[in-house]
Amino acid sequence: MNIAIISIFPEFFHGPLNVSLVARAREAELLETTVVDLRAFGAGTHRQVDDAPFGGGAGMVLQPEPLANALAPFADTHRVLLTPGGKPLTQEILDRWATLDSLTLVCGRYEGVDERIAEHFIDEEISLGDYVLLGGEVAALAIVEGVTRLLPGAVGNARSIETESFRDGLLEEPQYTRPAQWRGWDVPEVLLSGHHGHVEEWRRQQRLERTRQRRPELLESGLGEPDELE
Ligand code: ADE
Repeated sequence: MNIAIISIFPEFFHGPLNVSLVARAREAELLETTVVDLRAFGAGTHRQVDDAPFGGGAGMVLQPEPLANALAPFADTHRVLLTPGGKPLTQEILDRWATLDSLTLVCGRYEGVDERIAEHFIDEEISLGDYVLLGGEVAALAIVEGVTRLLPGAVGNARSIETESFRDGLLEEPQYTRPAQWRGWDVPEVLLSGHHGHVEEWRRQQRLERTRQRRPELLESGLGEPDELE
């Protein structure tokens, strides 16, 4: 899969794209990343890419021409604008994108991007959540990680993808490892019992209980074994 990222801070990505599973996926050629410096498309000696908003108001808006030119080589890809005004990112969206050949992530900055870009050059507008960051860069990285772990061959244990939070509409159950007794706190007895059926039943109950306590709206949305809530 090819992921292109358009940003005025290309250096933001140098570290994260070179560590952990993302680096491994790139080395294995499961993932190719291209970081495009929006400023290279800016006008004049100052490489200007932003200007004041028409109608007045605070902040600066990314101008359409540099963005359109930066996006031109990616016209055939799925183009996503990262903005707090977009649809919230979900596992479902990542699942869908992980099947694509290519994805282009446009990082908004300042007060936003000229709406004509959003309307005519962007396929989807996505937000990382209901809070405002300095720009779309962190959201772009979240997407790179979320998609990379879904690429076939990128994560060693396919079962760990299957059973994780949100995969079945529920939060993940608590996990424990050695030692079984630690600072006076014990691992739940059932996990040491060796009884596979009891372990699975305990895990299912824990997923339901944790979801009911922390994210009840996930149960109300109709996902996650609703008939087992009685
Ligand atoms: N840029 C600023 N805040 C953002 C958010 N929450 N999601 C995506 N892009 C953003």
